Amino acid sequence: MTNPQELLHSRYGEKPFQTQESDWNHILTTLLSHRSIRSYSLNLLPHGILELIIASAQSAANSSNLQTWSVVAVEDKQRKEELSKLAGNQAHIRQCPLFLVWLADLARLAHIAESQGFSGDGLEYLEMFVMATVDATLAAQNAVVAAESLGLGTVYIGGIRNHPEEVAAILNLPTSVFAVFGLCVGYPNPEVETVIKPRLPQSAVLHRETYSLAVQEEALSHYDEIMKAFYQQQQMNVAGDWSEHSAKRVATSQSLSGRDRLREALNNLGFKLR
Ligand SMILES: Cc1cc2nc3c(=O)[nH]c(=O)nc-3n(C[C@H](O)[C@H](O)[C@H](O)COP(=O)(O)O)c2cc1C
Repeated sequence: MTNPQELLHSRYGEKPFQTQESDWNHILTTLLSHRSIRSYSLNLLPHGILELIIASAQSAANSSNLQTWSVVAVEDKQRKEELSKLAGNQAHIRQCPLFLVWLADLARLAHIAESQGFSGDGLEYLEMFVMATVDATLAAQNAVVAAESLGLGTVYIGGIRNHPEEVAAILNLPTSVFAVFGLCVGYPNPEVETVIKPRLPQSAVLHRETYSLAVQEEALSHYDEIMKAFYQQQQMNVAGDWSEHSAKRVATSQSLSGRDRLREALNNLGFKLR
């Protein structure tokens, strides 16, 4: 599907705004075609593709060019198996040929500070953790777009944060390095159909000049209708509508799959978060 109007229709689950054909390009087609892939073919990635994906990731903007992120490429079956178990036993981690673990990495800066004769106290602050997490995320999303432009499929794995210390041990991460999320990469299984998942109407996310929660009510109930139909159409096992589903996701600390102890885990990994 490369028709702009069709892509936009799928992205919002309804007839979208009009766009000029002349404003469209193949990058927009890649971006608007995104869908997470959770079933992969057996084909391995051709030689050089990983490096191309990482060069794209490194091309993202990053805070003050400090480059406070790294990535571990995992292809070993046993290691993927172990990571899958730690991330809620997600089968696609075992199945994908390449599993990338994106890291907020303050170890490199700490090392540089020390070798330059500085204490590196600035690294102890929450700001630096946020910076490293933002940088890792921007890099990863560039990697996703690059992979998708090459016909590959991906799915992010936040489940990697269920057991941060164990993940760090498996990947041999030094102190001050945290696995923010994983990313499965591989060629989509051609036998499994995937679809574009509708997003919130723009009236919920796009605010002009100032923010308003009140104006979002209508957009939210409209989106609930669209998603209810989507869940049924896709035979997804989701009770109720998007609002109900999302509210349950944050209802209690137990809904966080163990991630309610993230601050403690980060402290254990060397992040003081002052
Ligand atoms: C940071 C992050 C973590 C995610 N973690 C998981 C995960 O652990 N398992 C999974 O199957 N999907 C995961 N996803 C995928 C989302 O569920 C998916 O992007 C979302 O439902 C929208 O669907 P789409 O990507 O097909 O448009 C994650 C996505 C992001 C951005």
